[in-house]
Amino acid sequence: MKWRADVIKRSSQADRLEAFYQETEDPWGFETEAYERDRYQATLAVLDRVRYENALEVGCGEGAFTFLVADRVNHILGVDVSETAISRASRRGVSFPNTTFRTMDIGASLPAGEFDLIICSEVFYYIHPFQRLNVARGMLKRLRPEGELLLVHSNRSESTTWPDVYGEGGAEGLHALFTRYLRMNVIEERLMQGYQIALLRPDTQFDGTINRLALVRLIVSNARAVVTHDFCETARALKSGVKRALNRD
Ligand SMILES: C[S@@+](CC[C@H](N)C(=O)[O-])C[C@H]1O[C@@H](n2cnc3c(N)ncnc32)[C@H](O)[C@@H]1O
Repeated sequence: MKWRADVIKRSSQADRLEAFYQETEDPWGFETEAYERDRYQATLAVLDRVRYENALEVGCGEGAFTFLVADRVNHILGVDVSETAISRASRRGVSFPNTTFRTMDIGASLPAGEFDLIICSEVFYYIHPFQRLNVARGMLKRLRPEGELLLVHSNRSESTTWPDVYGEGGAEGLHALFTRYLRMNVIEERLMQGYQIALLRPDTQFDGTINRLALVRLIVSNARAVVTHDFCETARALKSGVKRALNRD
């Protein structure tokens, strides 16, 4: 069998997220934590238009934000890698006829269609660093020329609380994928306590060419992140293996 590191990495991350959702409902406390409620209100306040036609939310989880934004859109599709999260979202979505939910790994594919709003909130850290630029390109491709991309991510200093996140993934670096590499225009940017919100629009002059030097820098920094992450994961696995072996004696 051919060894496919990318597939192995993707599936292990997806398995962890699925297990996290299976363990408990609303594992991050999106429905109960005041911090999350405030984050959602701040995010909604950044939206530029009163109403959107066709929206996509990637990494929608159980739909906590999808349902809040539902009365600003004609239709919203929420996708998430966790089947459990999507089945909970779909169940609740029965009361919101303009919402649809689908299980999907955005590292592998994105839904077909053209959207005038794409929401990506607290998701990009989970995408393998070597897949991120492609996923970002895919999102840009699905955005109408006048469409808007809404990004929300924790600052670098806050983003290591989830142990499986690739070390460097703060909003600073993640949002730059869209602004620096894909040349998207910043309509609005808000630096909040611990996280950043950015509303971006495509640069209609951008022909898809990315500066080679910038690309090399990105590859080097991704490689560093992956090596550090894999080293830490291996060390953790080794430590728990040794502990288990010692306890057996
Ligand atoms: C921290 S939660 C954020 C949920 C929601 N966007 C919010 O801000 O309330 C991250 C979500 O991204 C999802 N996710 C992570 N990697 C993904 C992938 N490759 N494809 C689709 N969803 C993914 C997780 O399952 C999880 O529901």
